[in-house]
Amino acid sequence: MRKYITSTVYVLAVILLAACGSPSSGTSGNGKWQSFSGDKRIEQRVDSVLKLMTLEEKIGQMTQFSANWSITGPVMSDDFQPYLEKGLIGSIFNATSVEGIRRMQQIAVEETRLGIPILFGQDVIHGYKTIFPIPLAEACSWDLEMMQRTAEIAAIEAASDGINWTFAPMVDIGRDARWGRVMEGAGEDPYLGSKVAEARVLGFQGGRDVNSLRELTTLLATGKHLAAYGAAESGRDYNTAELSEHTLRNVYLPPYQAAHEAGVGTFMASFNEINGVPATADRWLMTEMLRNEWGFKGFVVSDYTGVNELVPHGVARDEKHAAELAVNAGIDMDMTGATFIKYLAESVKEGKVSEKSIDNAVRSILEMKFLLGLFDDPYRYLDEERAKQNTMTPEFMETARKAVSSSVVLLKNDNQTLPVTKESGKTVALIGPLMNDSINLNGEWAGLGDRNKSVPILKGLTEKYEGSTVRLIYAEGSSITETTSAKIAEAVAAARRADIVIAAMGEDFNWSGEAAVRTDIRLPEPQRELLRALKETGKPVVLVTLSGRPLDLSWEDETMDAILQAWFPGTQGGHGIADVIAGDYNPSGRLVMSFPRNVGQIPIYYNQKNTGRPVDLNNESVDYKSNYLDTSITPLYPFGYGLSYTTFGISNAQIDKKTLKTEDDKITVTANVRNTGEVDGEIVVQLYTRQLVASVTRPVKELKGFQKIALKAGQSRQVTFELTSDDLAFYGIDMQKKTEPGNMKLWVAQHSADNSNEIDFWIE
Ligand code: BGC
Repeated sequence: MRKYITSTVYVLAVILLAACGSPSSGTSGNGKWQSFSGDKRIEQRVDSVLKLMTLEEKIGQMTQFSANWSITGPVMSDDFQPYLEKGLIGSIFNATSVEGIRRMQQIAVEETRLGIPILFGQDVIHGYKTIFPIPLAEACSWDLEMMQRTAEIAAIEAASDGINWTFAPMVDIGRDARWGRVMEGAGEDPYLGSKVAEARVLGFQGGRDVNSLRELTTLLATGKHLAAYGAAESGRDYNTAELSEHTLRNVYLPPYQAAHEAGVGTFMASFNEINGVPATADRWLMTEMLRNEWGFKGFVVSDYTGVNELVPHGVARDEKHAAELAVNAGIDMDMTGATFIKYLAESVKEGKVSEKSIDNAVRSILEMKFLLGLFDDPYRYLDEERAKQNTMTPEFMETARKAVSSSVVLLKNDNQTLPVTKESGKTVALIGPLMNDSINLNGEWAGLGDRNKSVPILKGLTEKYEGSTVRLIYAEGSSITETTSAKIAEAVAAARRADIVIAAMGEDFNWSGEAAVRTDIRLPEPQRELLRALKETGKPVVLVTLSGRPLDLSWEDETMDAILQAWFPGTQGGHGIADVIAGDYNPSGRLVMSFPRNVGQIPIYYNQKNTGRPVDLNNESVDYKSNYLDTSITPLYPFGYGLSYTTFGISNAQIDKKTLKTEDDKITVTANVRNTGEVDGEIVVQLYTRQLVASVTRPVKELKGFQKIALKAGQSRQVTFELTSDDLAFYGIDMQKKTEPGNMKLWVAQHSADNSNEIDFWIE
């Protein structure tokens, strides 16, 4: 018979129990349980709940299902409703309405034996209703404060709608533009990736204090996908990652560790294997490294059916074996696979999994529910009125618009083709499949963002130039994948009547994101055919590219007059892009992934190794060097690169001393930065270093600091960076992280290929 307990009565019971019982801290194969919060009172409450639970109920807490919805409203899928009714679900994701979430919570809290509230998760990746530029784009702003704010806004909107947990930030390093999931990350660099990971965790969770999880404006965050999901061979999603522990630790792990250090409450295991061990079964990764070495005390969720996939991976005989491997590795919650709930009780009875491991996993999950305040009021996040007030507010729209303009990257701008100012008196032909499109703008992981509400570029430009001297003509010219001679003729006719052409081209939003891998990353041929015809009119052509990955723009770079990389910009796309095109915002974005000259160069990244046969970039054709016969080894556009409507100069780079000790020391780097052009603008000043000799080979350059600064036309300013011994530490031959003595170089640069302002120094 079901017991009906109201949450208040329940909580009283919990507190009473906690007060009289002496709480037993569990110990297990995974060691003594240590709480995430370190709060003894919460630990006691957690233990008092645990004491009431049957083994089956405990395993239920380790089980997550995805909600399914009928067109008429929320309908729970038959698969999981019986589990919910028996109190055997810890978390549900993809439940997307206050009404639906309330109903599910009601069943859990009021109609099950113990009434333990459900944790509601969702992929809130770059916005919930207000959709911000895709994470890869936002990272190009190098504006950490802005990224923290957009994560905060996403949390405010989602938490008002009953969501408590987001599966973000995705912090996987992306070196392979074929891989569609590069759109979710912050690009190729571990240093920048770590800073962005930190900003996003702080944004979602409301700061470093665990108590901020109680706020109704924050979400529990997830660092994903642990680990090296982005190192998939040949860019194929879910594919094998084969990489050394050096590369894992020096390149791939730092952003996850930064997420941990920022206080992320959960991690998600990645689908891939690393060096023969799928992450979901990797005890070294999930327990020895994550918990014992880093000291992570939250919980780990598998990825979607990641546990079941241990069978096709070939390390589990069957799903029962898969569940055992996963839980013994340190996975606390099974996302949608139902392996834990089906098999773990039996495995415990057989002694293959210890009940103490189960207890520890459950404790960590319950603790998050306490921290989120769900035990005090399981309905606290559900408030239609608050949801209405906190959705797509004018302030959120303003932030989104600013996020768009600061994320776009000006890749080429011959003869100052851009901006087209309101006073220019020009007639502009607006062409291309993505010019009057709102559907693609939000990109692939668009939360609950209404694609119809996103502002097309055509609309943004029309509003921008309204009442000005600029005249606009529009012709589509082609769809994303097809065109006809009539459509091209119409676009060409528009171009002939205009002074300048702006063409919005690119990918379908479905071509990036999960399971969206491309081996040809050029613009589709019909779009290039259209661009060729437009160029033949002799009019200057500006290409605005929308994509979820760096594309091969070699032909466009040769042919077009200007190129503006606008990614997938989200809700305010049209307005933010119009601000840049009209020169109301001077572009300040800098690439966070190298753009290849062709797909054959991939993986290509600036922080590569020198090799024993390095290429002289002034003479790349010398034989028997690490070069190509048919193209340069350099990217088309390097990491850190981006133009502005003004120009900048960096000069007089200096350090306060030439030698640095391996421990507890620092040098101060200064340089003069000047806006050498005629308009105000922002520059991202980048500090790179190189260790020339070490116990293991080191990258030819590594980003160690950056500052985004605004300078008025003609203004100059001194920038100062502090470089500590710790900043130069890495995992060397003995796999210990430390700073090794050696000859060093540093650069204060405008991008990763900028070698002016080079300084030698030494670590001793
Ligand atoms: C993705 C995760 C995502 C999950 C839930 C998986 O397929 O890899 O990133 O959080 O689905 O939607």
